[in-house]
Amino acid sequence: MLKSLSSFLRSKTFGDFSRDSLLKMDPEIAHQTSISALKMGLVPSQQRADSKLLATNICGLELKNPIGMAAGFDKNAQVPVALSKIGFGFCEVGTVTPHPQQGNEKPRLFRLPEKQAIINRMGFNNHGHDEVFRRLSEINSEAIIGVNIGANKDSDDFVKDYVLGVKKFAPISDYLTINISSPNTKGLRDLQGFEALKRLLFESLAERARAKIRVPIFLKIAPDLDEKEMDAIAKVLVDSDIDGLIISNTTIDRETVKGLEHSEELGGLSGKPLFNLSTRRLAQMRLRVGDDMVIIGVGGIHSSQSAIAKLNAGANAIQLYSALVFCGMELLDEIKLGLVSAVEKNSFKNISSLSGTNTIDWASGKLEL
Ligand SMILES: Cc1cc2nc3c(=O)[nH]c(=O)nc-3n(C[C@H](O)[C@H](O)[C@H](O)COP(=O)(O)O)c2cc1C
Repeated sequence: MLKSLSSFLRSKTFGDFSRDSLLKMDPEIAHQTSISALKMGLVPSQQRADSKLLATNICGLELKNPIGMAAGFDKNAQVPVALSKIGFGFCEVGTVTPHPQQGNEKPRLFRLPEKQAIINRMGFNNHGHDEVFRRLSEINSEAIIGVNIGANKDSDDFVKDYVLGVKKFAPISDYLTINISSPNTKGLRDLQGFEALKRLLFESLAERARAKIRVPIFLKIAPDLDEKEMDAIAKVLVDSDIDGLIISNTTIDRETVKGLEHSEELGGLSGKPLFNLSTRRLAQMRLRVGDDMVIIGVGGIHSSQSAIAKLNAGANAIQLYSALVFCGMELLDEIKLGLVSAVEKNSFKNISSLSGTNTIDWASGKLEL
């Protein structure tokens, strides 16, 4: 599923196994192949250390660069160290639910190559808390690893599942993400409502307070929110002890991909067509929560220009996933180069100066890519 990985496989190991053939494969098999290759150490590590200009600190986490692998790629914590070695500043594993879960029936993952987009309705397929905990406990590395937690689809109380997630992973993760924004678990997004979110955060943060170390907690939200819904979320957040937001998950909107093959598949749309919507929501939430709350921007980053725009809209760090499927791991280096030259061009001290320079224009919709 990852271009650089596939070209590596073609040239060095698997002969004819080219990027194009990976992209022609069933998307889930291609993804599994990428995970296997990373696991086997077949993807070359980063050659040079990152420029110091890229180093940043979010919530006390020292990142070598602000680019993270988004949740969903390594759902079961099989390759977070490999991802760090190939150059990601941090990696978010999960979503993990208390019990292992098969997810939805296949097919449930679709590429829309004309727009560099993906639709998925995976439905939190994952190995469950115990297995992921075991894997993470065996890691001995400097890699910054966050754990994205969720709820089992047949749970009688979603909030209880998040509390279990906090309890299980607070002692061994660098940060936690409470993911209430997947469109593929019925009722999950309802937790974004005022009362439900209040209870969820109250109980999750109370559980965090019981752990020995105070692990930063982020809330990951959907881009499919109107002004009132954003107001409600912001109100709950500013009255809470939460550390930050991740904006955004996939969208259920199909306006940007109308008429394309697979565009009507149920699930969440990600990749390039998500960029403007998710970036606008990010800026709109930035205006609501103020400058001090950390926001990780994710959704449609596909170039250095879009990475810079995400930061300019108000993000402190970024994540990506879908574009790697179409552009390959080379994209990571391309984005880093672009970020470094943007910092240098503006004579900034480091990457954090790129954050929030254009929030108002992104929030109003004046700016788009
Ligand atoms: C196949 C797939 C699976 C995903 N699974 C998860 C998940 O388990 N938990 C989560 O919070 N986000 C998940 N996401 C959403 C991504 O983390 C990200 O928020 C979204 O794809 C937008 O970023 P992108 O456009 O760079 O892909 C998934 C995305 C894709 C494409």
